[in-house]
Amino acid sequence: MNYCKANILDLFSIEQMEKDCFSSEAFDRRLIKNLLVSPKSIAIKAITPSGKIIGNIIGSIRKERGRLLGRMLSLCVLEKYRKKGIATHLVQLLEEEFHSRGVETIRLEVSTRNETARRFYKRHGYQITTPVLDNYYRDGSDAFVMCKNL
Ligand SMILES: CC(C)(COP(=O)(O)OP(=O)(O)OC[C@H]1O[C@@H](n2cnc3c(N)ncnc32)[C@H](O)[C@@H]1OP(=O)(O)O)[C@@H](O)C(=O)NCCC(=O)NCCS
Repeated sequence: MNYCKANILDLFSIEQMEKDCFSSEAFDRRLIKNLLVSPKSIAIKAITPSGKIIGNIIGSIRKERGRLLGRMLSLCVLEKYRKKGIATHLVQLLEEEFHSRGVETIRLEVSTRNETARRFYKRHGYQITTPVLDNYYRDGSDAFVMCKNL
């Protein structure tokens, strides 16, 4: 597996991955495009030797109370390629990139129904902060906010 920065040429592949992994919560094309071109965003892809994108992670950086906050906005790996450590590697690469840009804290939201992802993030040092965000997703489900200090 290879890992490298994603760019605007990856727009349609990432849009398809989002649809495959998130259904109703998938980021739309416009949002993905904005994230791929923004200097405040970081998108990293995992590709097979034949060049197929099978995983990606997207983060962004903003200033909050005078400190740089990294937000993990999206993480997905195609079902067939899961449980091989691909998401773990994507998270490590994004954390390194955040760190090199001066980010001190990373924050993400995860559905209270997504036990797999919550366990995954916990294993990587992210902790639930209170309160739960009620009705956060389009399907009406709530979100945990999870944070990690770098
Ligand atoms: C959550 C998600 C990104 C994890 O991707 P992944 O590539 O399977 O993640 P990893 O392989 O790094 O780790 C997943 C599990 O596989 C295990 N694993 C990793 N490498 C392994 C290997 N070689 N053999 C067996 N198991 C392995 C890990 O221990 C981990 O176990 P845990 O979940 O009990 O902690 C993926 O399930 C996904 O895309 N889900 C849908 C979208 C989603 O929910 N995204 C997150 C919310 S924003």
